[in-house]
Amino acid sequence: MNSLTDCFVLSNGVKVPCVGFGTWQTPTGDVAVQSVLAALKAGYRHIDTAWGYENEPEVGEAVRASGVPREEIFVTSKHWVISRGYQKTIEAVEASLRNLKLDYMDLYLVHWPCVAKSSPQWKEINADTWRGFERMYKDGKIRAIGVSNYQKKHIEGLYEYCTVKPMVNQIEFHPGYTQMDNVRYCQEQGILVEAWSPLGNGTVLKSPFLAAIAAKYGKSVAQLCVRFALQCGVLPLPKSVHADRIAQNADVFDFTISDEDMQAIQDMPRLGFSGYMPEDAPADILAGLLPPDKA
Ligand code: A2P
Repeated sequence: MNSLTDCFVLSNGVKVPCVGFGTWQTPTGDVAVQSVLAALKAGYRHIDTAWGYENEPEVGEAVRASGVPREEIFVTSKHWVISRGYQKTIEAVEASLRNLKLDYMDLYLVHWPCVAKSSPQWKEINADTWRGFERMYKDGKIRAIGVSNYQKKHIEGLYEYCTVKPMVNQIEFHPGYTQMDNVRYCQEQGILVEAWSPLGNGTVLKSPFLAAIAAKYGKSVAQLCVRFALQCGVLPLPKSVHADRIAQNADVFDFTISDEDMQAIQDMPRLGFSGYMPEDAPADILAGLLPPDKA
């Protein structure tokens, strides 16, 4: 990858610009609009949002206001846990499109799997949701479909039922928490791995170990993290609300991390893990993170 417009290619042939702009925890309102506009101005062509982030309207507004043709911007959103099931999933896609005020989404992801702890019928519930994804994909409302926070067992559960395989799995991935088994499994399956919190939500940026490696390349730790994901074949989604950081996080194409440093980063002790895992943060807890009128 040599620029923000170089792409990963999904299993259905759809191209995805190799660094996405993350919007998790970006406040609603003008901050969200301005930060997405700053990202598009800095050359990002891939914006990642979710119904649960509550900033889909701002993302759509910035996409339209940017002056960049819609077809040049890759827009991802995600299905929230309260919309599980075939019919509710179809309604959720329509709700996200209304929020975004867009005709289609480039990628739509299941935000969290239903897990055994939440329901003994977890596989069937995930399959029923996925049938809604397949319907909307076949209807052309979404150019590609995938999952998020899925582990191997959840993907294999889906394989028992699906006719269209997921094209993406978006998981927490950053130096200090790489879930390499899951990454390798997905890559073997032809599923593109995307990294949420590629900077460890900011926590890994203070690591002296990473700072020493970044200094060798004359780069910031944030840039090292973004580059690390790319060199693992993982698509990073760094988030910031500051224009200078937004530009900095995309300035990652003028250096290569050596094999030795890649290995050292992969081998570093756990750092910056969010604590969010599907089995430990099941649907009911996650639903509780939203205001009661949304949960
Ligand atoms: P802010 O939005 O105030 O810039 P992640 O993408 O891993 O979730 O990390 C996002 C966090 O990292 C946010 O708190 C963001 O803060 C911060 N951040 C993003 N880019 C940089 C950067 N280049 N330098 C320092 N902090 C950054």
